[in-house]
Amino acid sequence: MNALQKDLTRLVSRIEAGDRARVDADTRRLRFHLMPPTGWLNDPNGLCWYKGNYHVFYQYGPFDPNGGVKFWGHWTSPDLLHWTQQPAALCPDQTWDIHGVYSGSALVEADALYLYYTGNVKHPGENYDYVNSGRGHNVALAISSDGIHMDDNRLLLENKDYPDGLSCHVRDPKVWKQDGRYYMVLGARTVDSRGEVLVYESEDRLHWTHCNTITTPETFGYMWECPDLFCVDGQMILSLSPQGIKREGNRYQNVYSCGYFPLYGDFRGEYTLGEYAESDVGFDYYAPQTFEAPDGRRIVIGWMGMPDADYTNPTAQENGWQHCMSVPRELHWDGERLRAVPVRELDDLHTNGRTLTFDGTAQCPLAQGADIRIANRGASLHVMIGDAAAIEYGSGLLTLTLSETSGSGRTQRVAEVKTLTDLRILADTSSLELFLNNGEQVMTTRYYPQRADTVRFGGQGDAEIFDMNAMEMTYLEK
Ligand code: FRU
Repeated sequence: MNALQKDLTRLVSRIEAGDRARVDADTRRLRFHLMPPTGWLNDPNGLCWYKGNYHVFYQYGPFDPNGGVKFWGHWTSPDLLHWTQQPAALCPDQTWDIHGVYSGSALVEADALYLYYTGNVKHPGENYDYVNSGRGHNVALAISSDGIHMDDNRLLLENKDYPDGLSCHVRDPKVWKQDGRYYMVLGARTVDSRGEVLVYESEDRLHWTHCNTITTPETFGYMWECPDLFCVDGQMILSLSPQGIKREGNRYQNVYSCGYFPLYGDFRGEYTLGEYAESDVGFDYYAPQTFEAPDGRRIVIGWMGMPDADYTNPTAQENGWQHCMSVPRELHWDGERLRAVPVRELDDLHTNGRTLTFDGTAQCPLAQGADIRIANRGASLHVMIGDAAAIEYGSGLLTLTLSETSGSGRTQRVAEVKTLTDLRILADTSSLELFLNNGEQVMTTRYYPQRADTVRFGGQGDAEIFDMNAMEMTYLEK
């Protein structure tokens, strides 16, 4: 660690420690979701299992709840339930990342953890648009033997190394090992504003060669952020967060999209992309990243936020922090689409389970955190969470409506679902995650309820309701 790194790390810990009392008294802190100790959080980064722990790194703005210069924050856990805050893993302290240590991923090898990240550089000047000029987006590598402290940090690729025809926006390396070689995908925007994914390969993890470019026959958005290419249940999936997709009826309702293409053929050569599907149709889900758990499960975590949205989170102004992660979700390919369901570890947080059968209306008290599982038997279904959120299903549509106070600018989102057989709702103090038909569709949103102490049902069905204990979070000492 050099002197600047030491000072920055110390400064961040001091700010976090100074905010501890405020954090402890804050009723909007979530019970079973990861949040920043203070300041801002966006994308999950470097998700992996290394030396007996899950590692969740994340885009972290410790100085500013509205963003600021990005670091990599870091949580570890042996079981996805007991979390320990670790010192900020990467600081903007190199010439190639001086304006932000942007998103990236982890590669686990026997001897070390390799963190590939984007170094963001903004050149000073007035005549730059920072898209086609004035910005450096570098691929850099930090290596750690204990998974906590970085032993080495080096620059691997800069803009001049990327193929011709690209803007300055080339970022978010996702790296994996396959068939004895290493592969990397990078999100890119071309000079004529078309989203693409660059595929690189390497034999030694350090020297990378461009071997393919993946895109759609017709332009699909101007920038593809946070690509991830992985195989689940025998199907290759290209997950991405494309920007510039216009709303079409009930599709693409958010400012930016987040979804996936099934990929057929060879990502290194001839390939075709299947139909694009949205990963989530709520207000707040973006930049998800997957990794393989030690038991082989493909797990995804997404940022419960949306860049450049016109709705807000009152915690930024009032509590000094903003955003959280989704719960970890297990992914499966069912032959037609991806399904995402909360990892089974979360069931260990259940307490006070009760069941209820309704034919007409029924209601039940709700704790601060809850897992509500509904088997629907009617043609329509209504669920009200306190006075804050209404979920209504009928005629092939499921509508989530937030009240004016709870939505903080969020109003309504609609999912098209022919038949609703089951609905699971994970409700935390300031978030809702809805899983439709065993994760066939997901709706994720932040909300800020004034009252969420009852759940009311209308229709015909059976409900199982659990209170959720809080996960254990151990923060760094001063
Ligand atoms: C996605 C993103 C990434 C970038 C990071 C910067 O939310 O814009 O493309 O690396 O956030 O924080």
